[in-house]
Amino acid sequence: MIPVITIDGPTASGKGTVAARVARALGFHYLDSGALYRLCAYKALKEKIDLTDESALAQTAAHLAPLFEDGKIYLDGEDVTDKIRAEEVGVAASKVASLPAVRQALLDVQKRARRLPGLVADGRDMGSVIFPDAPLKVFLTASAQARAQRRFNQLKEKGIVANIDTLTRDLEERDRRDMQRAVSPLAPAKDAKILDSSELTIEATVGQVLQWYRSLTK
Ligand code: C5P
Repeated sequence: MIPVITIDGPTASGKGTVAARVARALGFHYLDSGALYRLCAYKALKEKIDLTDESALAQTAAHLAPLFEDGKIYLDGEDVTDKIRAEEVGVAASKVASLPAVRQALLDVQKRARRLPGLVADGRDMGSVIFPDAPLKVFLTASAQARAQRRFNQLKEKGIVANIDTLTRDLEERDRRDMQRAVSPLAPAKDAKILDSSELTIEATVGQVLQWYRSLTK
């Protein structure tokens, strides 16, 4: 069986960084499932598709043909790596992600990412829905305050001035939408290990995941 480590959790919990580093340490593939929802939202915004038009959005999701290459993401020939990280796209992504037909349309592409020698999958429902048989499931959390501060620092590095209260409010609203939606709500899988990274460095968080994985394979 091809091993999978799932890393789920709320927005700005550090999942992306941690998952990519765990994948690198193990030589595994990495699936950034949030990028798929962001790509769908980006395309919808660009093509002015109504964010409640479920069938049009499902069509968009079904026909997405992104190219992931050397850490960059291309959509229809355009480098969208940074563009899909914009807050506006993140907020639209969480709306698009609440539609069952969109989630359905993105199922196969996610399952196909499970390739040898293994996969680290990052998202909201990786352990609960997409890879329920994953041998290691991690639910990575951090306080809203810690997550807002991290997002603030990330934006600052990019030269973007943000307001920490607005960021906190935005991410709490996004958490609420992700947790309350009817399909694949954000919740730890029953057998997930909960890891609170509020007080941990990235290195320590990565180290904990690797230690759990190695103790499984020993
Ligand atoms: O992880 P990221 O912030 O890039 O995800 C963007 C949005 O996509 C999330 O707010 C969430 O609504 C949605 N998402 C999801 N299921 C996943 C990954 C992301 O619903 N597996």
